[in-house]
Amino acid sequence: MRKKIIAGNWKMNKTPKEAAEFCRMIKEKAASNEAEVVFCVPFVDLYPVLEELRGSGIGVGAENMHFEDSGAFTGEVSALMLKEMGVEYVVLGHSERRQYFGETDETVNKKVKKALAAGLVPIMCCGETLEQREAGITIEWVRMQVKCGLLGVSAADAAKVVVAYEPIWAIGTGKTATSEQAQEVCHAIREVLTEMYGKETAEQMRVQYGGSVNAKNAAELFAMADIDGGLVGGASLKEEFVSIVHY
Ligand code: 13P
Repeated sequence: MRKKIIAGNWKMNKTPKEAAEFCRMIKEKAASNEAEVVFCVPFVDLYPVLEELRGSGIGVGAENMHFEDSGAFTGEVSALMLKEMGVEYVVLGHSERRQYFGETDETVNKKVKKALAAGLVPIMCCGETLEQREAGITIEWVRMQVKCGLLGVSAADAAKVVVAYEPIWAIGTGKTATSEQAQEVCHAIREVLTEMYGKETAEQMRVQYGGSVNAKNAAELFAMADIDGGLVGGASLKEEFVSIVHY
């Protein structure tokens, strides 16, 4: 039985002070015995959030990292830096990073491997544009993203990876995929994971849905057979996140 993982992705929101205040307000209400709950936050918020959430049972993640350990990469942060701070998760390959910051399947793959080597749990994102959905190539596209992102990752390591399916047209638009649409793609992801790693590993891996998840639609989405929780943007910045965790 896979444990659901419900992660907030704050994106570029909340100053360190706002982050600490929010965590103080929400930590008891958002903790869960049934689901793994995680806040993925901007780099500068990591320290106050880790301090505030210590002992709360809520995990902390970054929203990106670099694929090298150290060196001349101005403005970047390494997996080792995150790990040493006490960070446990890292979002990789979010569509906003692909769209605005030149992230590719190749860099995502390097980052996934580096995160695993450092003992971080990668939350590896994939998802199609509206144009791709309308052209009927969603499944092929997402299968390819998953295959490329996990290229060269062993089954033992892959078992730790969380795959987040986020249709780009559903992100921040209030236009959620129907639970059937989300399940169809999450199931296809499970199939490609089965082809790559065998049934036992694929059945262990968590596949999340993300894209306008809110307190109203979470229960229906998370009830689908291949959806093991959500990656929540806008609604994770508010108390509404509590209702999503306890869907
Ligand atoms: P929204 O929940 O705001 O649509 O964002 C989804 C997302 O991109 C999470 O990573």
